[in-house]
Amino acid sequence: MKTVGLTFDLKTDYAFKKDDPPDANAEFDHPSTIQVIASAIQACGFKVKKIGNASSLLEKIGSLDVDIVFNISEGLTGRNRESQVPILLEMAGIPFVGADALTLSLTLDKIMAKKIFIAENIPTPKFFELKSPEALANTNHFKFPLIVKPRFEGSSKGLSENSRVENREDLKKQVEFVINTYKQPALVEQFISGQEFTVAVIGNDPPQALPIVQIKIDGRLKLEDKFYTFARIQSDRLEYICPAHINADLRKRIMELALKTYDAVECRDFGRVDFRVDSEGNPYVLEINPLPSLSTEDVFLLVAKEIGITYEQIIGRILDSALKRYNLE
Ligand SMILES: Nc1ncnc2c1ncn2[C@@H]1O[C@H](COP(=O)(O)OP(=O)(O)O)[C@@H](O)[C@H]1O
Ligand SMILES: [Mg+2]
Repeated sequence: MKTVGLTFDLKTDYAFKKDDPPDANAEFDHPSTIQVIASAIQACGFKVKKIGNASSLLEKIGSLDVDIVFNISEGLTGRNRESQVPILLEMAGIPFVGADALTLSLTLDKIMAKKIFIAENIPTPKFFELKSPEALANTNHFKFPLIVKPRFEGSSKGLSENSRVENREDLKKQVEFVINTYKQPALVEQFISGQEFTVAVIGNDPPQALPIVQIKIDGRLKLEDKFYTFARIQSDRLEYICPAHINADLRKRIMELALKTYDAVECRDFGRVDFRVDSEGNPYVLEINPLPSLSTEDVFLLVAKEIGITYEQIIGRILDSALKRYNLE
């Protein structure tokens, strides 16, 4: 029987520092999610060894005795945080599930990822970067509304009702907030009204796009100015709908773009691509998550149900894709 190591960051392991924002540990998992994933791996016929975060891995790396690691660790800070576990595993020659360090760093940094999208003709909202609020004085040629996000975060960190801005004064305030609170540049993007979708992708050679999931906020699919904020995730005002309410043309276009994005950044085994679609039906890729949440509250359970398989089976398929890559089946 093969043994699968599990690397992860727990919400409960995070020690809040003095000037941390309330969403500082938003990317980390609940102990219950780790348990659900561990049970799913066991149900697929493997032994599970819980390893913990990058520091625990570093301590134990000489004596792990696992065949492969299922990594869902997000790391602590910086744009390379998601790569910390993968790079240690790569150094030690231990196979692992999911994208490698290069892909994880490249995609956590939304600006680097957008540069790749542009080079590959993948539509993404127009943007500029501000490294300081003062730099705004030299920036012109943009149209409101805009959205201000931290350059390298996930899980809607740094996003609140104030993130969508309609004038220079509010833009400057929000850029100041992002830079000071998250200690990183602000990504300023054209705000796309309309609808929102997310597409889970699994496997390799070729990967498979799973049914499109649509985002409903405050009971509405026509989102207009509404978007995904940290506060909304905490509340029940956000729902995932699958199958999505869209026509066949748009469905096809979004599925194609999801796969093209997955390939463009060399995602492996699993990932999730986020989209906004404007009122004219033009899709834009916001970002790709090579380490999307596998929590049963998130989209993977929903799409598994939609294609008639269980949560355990979808975890099994992700793990099998990785084992196959390493010829370990
Ligand atoms: N350009 C945009 N136009 C409209 N809404 C956006 C835009 N960028 C982000 N959003 C909203 O903010 C949410 C989070 O943004 P995203 O880029 O996916 O970052 P992350 O999920 O890593 O926090 C999206 O799901 C969407 O609701
Ligand atoms: Mg997102």
